Amino acid sequence: MILVTGAAGKTGSAVIRMLAAREQPVRALVFRQRQVRSLERLGAADVLVADMRDAASLAAAMRGIRSVYHICPNMHPEEHAIGVGGIAAAASAGIEHFVYHSVLHPAIASMPHHWQKHLVEQELKGSRLRHTILRPCAYMQNLRAGWSKILENGEFAVPYAVATRMSLVDLEDVAEAAAVVLCTQGHEGVTYELCGAESLSQDDVAGILSGQLGIPVRASVVALEDWVRDARATGVSDYAIDSLLRMFEYYDRHGFCGKSLDLERLLDRPSTTFGEFVRRCVMGEEA
Ligand SMILES: NC(=O)c1ccc[n+]([C@@H]2O[C@H](COP(=O)([O-])OP(=O)(O)OC[C@H]3O[C@@H](n4cnc5c(N)ncnc54)[C@H](OP(=O)(O)O)[C@@H]3O)[C@@H](O)[C@H]2O)c1
Repeated sequence: MILVTGAAGKTGSAVIRMLAAREQPVRALVFRQRQVRSLERLGAADVLVADMRDAASLAAAMRGIRSVYHICPNMHPEEHAIGVGGIAAAASAGIEHFVYHSVLHPAIASMPHHWQKHLVEQELKGSRLRHTILRPCAYMQNLRAGWSKILENGEFAVPYAVATRMSLVDLEDVAEAAAVVLCTQGHEGVTYELCGAESLSQDDVAGILSGQLGIPVRASVVALEDWVRDARATGVSDYAIDSLLRMFEYYDRHGFCGKSLDLERLLDRPSTTFGEFVRRCVMGEEA
C-alpha cells in the first residue's frame, strides 16, 4: 500500500488518480471528513482523516505502508515541522521508499515555502530512509484560478512583470512521474527536476492562450495592493499572502526557469507543452 499525504489538494488528487489508473492500492491522508468521499471516488482504497502536525496520527497513517508520497500543504506556516514529522514517522515505521514532493530551486532563502523544502530535503538526505525527491516547477494548472477573466475579457493579469519567464509544468505530467517513481525500481537517492520544456514569458503565455482560445488575450500586471485586497477577500491567510508576495518579488527579478530532461526520461515521452495544456482546457478535459 502507498500512502499519499496532502491527498485532497491539487497535487495529491492528481497523484492518487495516476496511482489508481495503475491499479495501485493507495491510502489517502486527508484533513477533513468531508474530503473522504471524493478521494474514494478518485480510487483511494483507504482514506484516513488526520492532522499531519500530530505525530501519533502520522504514525497510524504509516502502518502497513510500503511507500510514502509526502506532500506538505501549500504555503503552510508549519511546513518544516510537517516535512520532518513525515520523515520521522516513516523512519520509525520502516517505510521502504519515501518520496518527497519538493519544488524547483528549493534553496532560495527569500521564499519561505522554498527554503522550508530545502531544510526538509536536508533532513531527508541525512536520514536512513531510501528516498527520492521530486522538484516541480510552477504548474500550468495555476492559471485556472484566473480562467474566467481570461475568457470574459481577454485579461491575463499577473502580479509580476509580463517579461517574467517560467518553465511551467503540467501537473498531470508531474503526477505521472510520481507514479513512475513509486511503481518502478531504480529511483532511490535520486533528485528529479520536473520542468516543462518551454521557458515562456507571460506575454508568450498570453499569445498561446489567444491562439488556442481564438480570442485576443493580453498579459497585464495587477497592482500588488489590488492582489492583496482580493486575496484577503477570498480568505487567504496572512502567512500565505506574505509568502506569495515574496514569491512574486523573486519571480519579478529572476523568473522561475529550469532546464532538465528528468521529466521526459521518467515519462519516456516529451513533456506536455503549454499549448497542449490549453487545448485540454478548451476540450473540457481539465478540472
Ligand atoms: N502549485 C504549484 O505550482 C506548485 C509547484 C511546485 C510545488 N508545489 C508544492 O506542492 C505542495 C502541494 O501543493 P497543493 O497546491 O497541491 O496543496 P493544497 O492544494 O493546498 O493541498 C494540501 C492539502 O493538505 C491539507 N492540509 C492542510 N493542513 C493539513 C494538516 N495539518 N494535516 C493534514 N492535511 C492538511 C489541505 O486541506 P484543506 O484544504 O482542507 O485545508 C489540502 O487538502 C506544496 O508544498 C507546494 O509548495 C506547488
